[in-house]
Amino acid sequence: MSRTFSIIKPDATKRNITGAINKLIESGNLRIIAQKRLKMSKEQAEGFYDVHKEKPFFKDLVEYMISEPVIVQVLEGDDAIIKYRTIMGATNPDNAEEGTIRKLFALNIQENSVHGSDSDENAVKEIDYFFTKDEIVG
Ligand code: CMP
Repeated sequence: MSRTFSIIKPDATKRNITGAINKLIESGNLRIIAQKRLKMSKEQAEGFYDVHKEKPFFKDLVEYMISEPVIVQVLEGDDAIIKYRTIMGATNPDNAEEGTIRKLFALNIQENSVHGSDSDENAVKEIDYFFTKDEIVG
């Protein structure tokens, strides 16, 4: 069993499709072992996406991530990181496989409905960024 970190992003909370996304997560054999809805501060969003701070899309990304509430989650399952990346589909919905969250719901490369960790190291970091140990009930 391993864990990954997920964000259901502003485009999805705005369109009231968080339940539909959770259904795909659960039917893909991942368990939501922590979840909360929050409105990110600018500092929180900038810190979370610090790795992208030199990218041309950074400013727009931060503005988007603070525009509406998000749902942050911890997901658990066998090979959780790879499994969730498969369930999400490619970053750009134009390249995402049929049946994936991003193919079904993403609006464009930025408003792409979900975020998932890309490595074990980042999963630990990202989970710690939003959750205390006692908020995670596996
Ligand atoms: P995410 O997986 O959360 O990682 C970085 C985010 O930046 C990405 O999803 C998108 O929401 C956003 N983004 C906007 N433009 C781009 C781009 N050209 N390439 C990658 N990510 C982008």
